[in-house]
Amino acid sequence: MSDDIILNIQNVTKRFPGVTALSDVSIQIRRGEIHCLCGENGAGKSTLIKILSGVYPWGSYEGHILYEGKELKLGDRSIRQAIEEGIAVVYQELTLVSDMTVGENIYLGKEPVEHGSINWDKLYADTQQILTKYNLDIQPQAIVKHLGVGKMQMTEIAKALSENARVLVLDEPTSALTEAEIDKLMEILRTLKEHGVTCIYISHKIEEFFRIGDSITVLRDGKVVTTQPAQALNVEKLVSYMVGREMHERFPKGNRKPGEVIFEVQDLHAQDPDHADHEVLKGVSFNLRKGEILGIAGLMGSGRTELVMTLFGEYGKITSGKVKLGEHELKVKNSRQAMLEGISLVPEDRKRHGLVLIQSVLKNISLANLDQFASWFRIDDAAELNASMQFAKSLAIKAPNLHVPCDSLSGGNQQKVVISKWLMSKPKVLIMDDPTRGIDVGAKYEIYKLMNDLTEQGISIIMISSELEEVLGMSDRVMVMHEGQSTCTLDIADATQEKIMALATGIAQVLS
Ligand SMILES: Nc1ncnc2c1ncn2[C@@H]1O[C@H](COP(=O)(O)OP(=O)(O)OP(=O)(O)O)[C@@H](O)[C@H]1O
Ligand SMILES: [Mg+2]
Repeated sequence: MSDDIILNIQNVTKRFPGVTALSDVSIQIRRGEIHCLCGENGAGKSTLIKILSGVYPWGSYEGHILYEGKELKLGDRSIRQAIEEGIAVVYQELTLVSDMTVGENIYLGKEPVEHGSINWDKLYADTQQILTKYNLDIQPQAIVKHLGVGKMQMTEIAKALSENARVLVLDEPTSALTEAEIDKLMEILRTLKEHGVTCIYISHKIEEFFRIGDSITVLRDGKVVTTQPAQALNVEKLVSYMVGREMHERFPKGNRKPGEVIFEVQDLHAQDPDHADHEVLKGVSFNLRKGEILGIAGLMGSGRTELVMTLFGEYGKITSGKVKLGEHELKVKNSRQAMLEGISLVPEDRKRHGLVLIQSVLKNISLANLDQFASWFRIDDAAELNASMQFAKSLAIKAPNLHVPCDSLSGGNQQKVVISKWLMSKPKVLIMDDPTRGIDVGAKYEIYKLMNDLTEQGISIIMISSELEEVLGMSDRVMVMHEGQSTCTLDIADATQEKIMALATGIAQVLS
């Protein structure tokens, strides 16, 4: 065995009731490399990470993991133990305490104590030292909830590094980051590599692997398909390993013929509901045609999510402007009313707004739509199950059956459940806020196909997306937002990545 291998994963199998999440997995991770882990939703990536980090302790899986040549045996206080061993994980969901400062979060539970009380000067000085060492641009005293997602992510990384991590695991770190923030993260990873930190990197944005990865392991259905040097692969090869077949196009061709304007927003202004002096929408105008997909592009913080949440009655206080559906003016006060009017929203923050995690997959899909199955005050269970099954099938939701709770599903599969729920509600206008975030390439394609089907049936879709390729690949027109305003709406034929970026960053002014 060569000294170069820091982690030697040998024949690891992990079973859950009804599911074998990992089956005979062997992977060798070299010291100081960036090892990418990829695979479809439910392939077993997070499960492997949870074994490495002690969430599932030694004895709860079969096989061996040699760490620095010795068997890793994480016991009762295993998560703490893994950290002490130098294995740190930044999870798919952020775990920071939002009301605390960056420094407090980094040293949570291990605050420097002197004469029985916390030495705050030392805590903040140490924090600054870590931030400087790894070139992280954050203020130690900043309150976490006031940071953007990108900086929260950096805080998580700093927290992991504060324990002298030798292996840093990042589980989908970029799913909520903007392009600029991703660039920054890539830079940080290179810095870490210079410091000799070994990195395991999970993502659904496979282009990233080729920017920073040294080797790539593909998992499918809990098994290793292949491990190869990144140079030996390319996007097409990798995708075919992941999905087990060749994929020739990323965006299915639709046959859309957008009709008359059915939804219109005129010079909308709205305030932050908690801070009346803060205007979040400063003049947004656009329209949406029947059977059309309108993409909304813009940087994080440009007001995209605030806009759609306001239209859905769940966020901003409208101070002026008009929203019209057909001929009548809408005054939506809450999401229930919005749904009755025929507007549905697949929210960005699915954990908070979209799912009841302890409830079954079935109930999560059908709950908002029970009236479809009600007859004479009873719910037609068979119809409910049938309809839900159809969505589960067409989106390939991976679950042993529809009665298991949502929190036993992998991250991406949970998202598919939320999407099913809103698709089932058959709205007139379907708003999707970053609908494919964290979803694998194969399932993305299925969601795009569904979007095409829906629009062909006459449903109109507003789609927010941070991935410009997706906006360009799926929309008929693109509305670009900048600092709470709509800048202009481009026909897809005239839209390019450069134009959209110029409008989104405010370099280009309103052209039309
Ligand atoms: N606590 C659990 N109980 C039962 N089944 C589970 C549990 N955790 C994971 N699974 C199942 O194990 C399989 C692998 O899940 P895992 O979360 O590792 O996937 P993943 O590759 O991380 O997917 P994603 O890309 O969607 O995050 C899935 O079929 C999932 O439903
Ligand atoms: Mg996962």
